[in-house]
Amino acid sequence: MPRQHITAHIAILGCVCLGLQAYLFHLDQPVNAGTAPAGQDFDSPGSVSVVVNKERPLRDPAYVPGELADVGGVALRREAADAFARMTADAAGTGVVITPVSGFRTADAQGVLHADYAGRYGSELAESISALPGHSEHQTGLAVDIGAADRACSLQACFEGTGAGAWAAANAHRYGFIIRYPAGAEAITGYAYEPWHLRYLGPAAAAEIHDAGITLEEYAGLYRPPGSPTAPPLHPPLDALP
Ligand code: DAL
Ligand code: ZN
Repeated sequence: MPRQHITAHIAILGCVCLGLQAYLFHLDQPVNAGTAPAGQDFDSPGSVSVVVNKERPLRDPAYVPGELADVGGVALRREAADAFARMTADAAGTGVVITPVSGFRTADAQGVLHADYAGRYGSELAESISALPGHSEHQTGLAVDIGAADRACSLQACFEGTGAGAWAAANAHRYGFIIRYPAGAEAITGYAYEPWHLRYLGPAAAAEIHDAGITLEEYAGLYRPPGSPTAPPLHPPLDALP
């Protein structure tokens, strides 16, 4: 075979291989992978980016964050507490009172709360509104439940219609917080709509998530819709990670 034909065959084979590799690489990418900037640590409990959910419990069930600060009677990690104080002061400056209802919770406190919900509503409903101990991001000190001054719609979906709820939905990302469990995202987050549950991630990540209208799971590249090609576990358990 003439040398130029051999060269052409090698070139064509190379293109086919590269194309196949690109296709397989594409199939292997989680939904929204690439949205999150590289270098964020979604796995360590001390990281502000940690993703804790039903399938990613804290490795140490008794985990307690290193530095907690009081803000309005609840405890949060220092950076979250500082951001929360700034946010509520700015909200108050516009006439909107936002009160902290619950911040850091130990695994034991979470267990008591979950058992109370399960006793009142049954375990299925309890699982949709309350994390099991070791599975709550309240244990990271990065989550805060908020309320309105008159306690209107406290811990109910109608909180979104209160001044505090509406202000938080529109502005919390500027201070580094997201509405962690948005409406209609139960299949992704594992929890019903909680317009009162804010999660601190820092302003850059919070703004990206807010502006894209996605969840933390999608931002972190941890969610694949059911039936996705190659379908790895939806949320790899933290224990399975290196
Ligand atoms: N309500 C949220 C899911 C928690 O219990 O952490
Ligand atoms: Zn909460």
